[in-house]
Amino acid sequence: MPQSPVLIPQSSPRPLIELKNVSKSFGWLNVLAGVSLSIEAGESLVIIGASGTGKSVLLKHIVGLLKPDSGEIWFDGNRIDTLSERPLMEIRQRIGFLFQMGALFDSLNVADNIAFPLREHTRKTEAEIKQIVADKLRRVGLSGIELKLPTELSGGMKKRVALARAIALDPEVILYDEPTTGLDPVRSDVINQLIIKLGRELKVTSITVTHDMQSAFKVGDRIVMLHEGKIIAQGTPQEIQASDNPIVRQFISGEASEKELASLD
Ligand SMILES: Nc1ncnc2c1ncn2[C@@H]1O[C@H](COP(=O)(O)OP(=O)(O)O)[C@@H](O)[C@H]1O
Ligand SMILES: [Mg+2]
Repeated sequence: MPQSPVLIPQSSPRPLIELKNVSKSFGWLNVLAGVSLSIEAGESLVIIGASGTGKSVLLKHIVGLLKPDSGEIWFDGNRIDTLSERPLMEIRQRIGFLFQMGALFDSLNVADNIAFPLREHTRKTEAEIKQIVADKLRRVGLSGIELKLPTELSGGMKKRVALARAIALDPEVILYDEPTTGLDPVRSDVINQLIIKLGRELKVTSITVTHDMQSAFKVGDRIVMLHEGKIIAQGTPQEIQASDNPIVRQFISGEASEKELASLD
């Protein structure tokens, strides 16, 4: 009798980022209720979900700004939710974070904003810093605006300067929190194109949180939907578009449900 071939497990590449059964509450409010998610190096993951479902909270766990009540968070083979501040800082420097509100320092000009993490975390000379600032501005399509103050910039330009600052330390991962919120469709598309371009040119892994479906479908290799503390769907943009899950369908079509219409009365 021929024996059945021995199955050798394929060693799949270790995910760059992994959340294992992460839960998080604030008081009585249970925001994340057992989220498990693996992100491979080089992929562009998009997280969608209604306002207040915990998308920003999830991103903050990935950089250790929030600690889970239970579950684990891993980055490149290191468990980070149990790390103390100092080793966590080293991990954080490998991750660029474009915060939801942009958050440039209004009293610093563009160059000093972008130079900030370089002065904080490296021993680069001012000449080197000047060159890096110019390079990052070029990458976001804003060469030559070093001396402008944030107050002189439009909303879209502020986002791009914040992005230049987020890539100052050459991160391996960029987290984008609602990068297109508050921008008109044309400026939103500039940001979408930039996310794609930076992913390609810098070979970064990106995680984009958004409720802008046009942006989600454009920048995502894979989309996951967060709903009531759990991931309820995931797939390629095509798979999500074709999903027959009623919650996903409702979210991507942007229609109010009977329940939401009733709550308006
Ligand atoms: N530090 C915090 N303390 C208390 N509640 C918080 C905190 N951060 C977020 N929340 C609450 O958690 C829920 C999810 O927030 P968030 O992740 O910001 O939602 P979104 O999906 O819109 O990004 C919201 O109800 C928010 O008020
Ligand atoms: Mg948010």
